[in-house]
Amino acid sequence: MLGKVILDMDPGIDDALALLLALSSPELDILGVTAVAGNTTIDKTGVNARRVLEYVGKDGIPVFLGASAPLARPLSTAEHVHGSDGLGDAGIPMPVQPPRGGGIQFIAETIRKYPGEVIVIATGPLTNIALAYTLYPSTPRLVKQLIIMGGAYHLTPYGRGNVTPLSEFNIYTDPEAAKIVFESTAPLTCVGLDVTTNPSVKIDPQRYREISRLRGRKAELASKIMKYQIERFGEVEVHDALAVAAAMQPAMFQMVEMNVQVLTNNDVSRGATIPFKPKEGGRGRARICIDINSEEFMRLFLEKVSEA
Ligand code: RIB
Ligand code: CA
Repeated sequence: MLGKVILDMDPGIDDALALLLALSSPELDILGVTAVAGNTTIDKTGVNARRVLEYVGKDGIPVFLGASAPLARPLSTAEHVHGSDGLGDAGIPMPVQPPRGGGIQFIAETIRKYPGEVIVIATGPLTNIALAYTLYPSTPRLVKQLIIMGGAYHLTPYGRGNVTPLSEFNIYTDPEAAKIVFESTAPLTCVGLDVTTNPSVKIDPQRYREISRLRGRKAELASKIMKYQIERFGEVEVHDALAVAAAMQPAMFQMVEMNVQVLTNNDVSRGATIPFKPKEGGRGRARICIDINSEEFMRLFLEKVSEA
């Protein structure tokens, strides 16, 4: 058993795919999902996590609402990428059970209850994580590991931004939160655009047709929600599923240890994540993914999505 996991997400099509992957992994004991505003507003991201869980019969996993806006900026959403409902406007049924409140407290209290045991996988803006670190200062010391989907580190040909040339959406949306997280002492693994926009890990129309032929509720849901992006962009970037894969099988990735400066200016550099080598002999605080075994990832993704 890999261990206890909290998923902090802004569902979002790729967040939903990441949740499906996590749900298919017996080695992950998912204690709960916390929702954050990002791809769409908090009232939708929370409900969307419930929609996914109930669609695949995992009603018992609780969803908690976290922050409805970034720490110090107005919320800028991405419905043009994820659909107006955040799940590809695919008609996925609304949940029977609504999400609960208290997402930040859930994160902090769960980590305190299981010191050194909880892995947090954050696939949205880092607002909830920064608030948990700030309001409950023992959290960074007690968390086992934080794995984020976020950042563009310019360490591979794919490592440029997707909101500006320098900045990735999750960091751009709440750079102040990201700065708090990157400057904390908690063990941090970063799955950024350097690997997630590598063409070898994208769902192209052929892979989409493969998934659409699979049976089972997970494949059915994946196919329904991915249709929105296949039709508009001709591909699906499964950013957040790669962050879950980094928890399940880290050996699939090549990582470097570096420190990262997050820029919080109000200009084109907003949300840039600048990696730099630690001082002579020091160790970088963040493990940044710079390559991925794409065949292994695709095999894992298709195997897990095709499970009943
Ligand atoms: O830049 C990609 C990230 O932003 C993904 O997590 C996607 O879901 C959006 O949140
Ligand atoms: Ca996301």
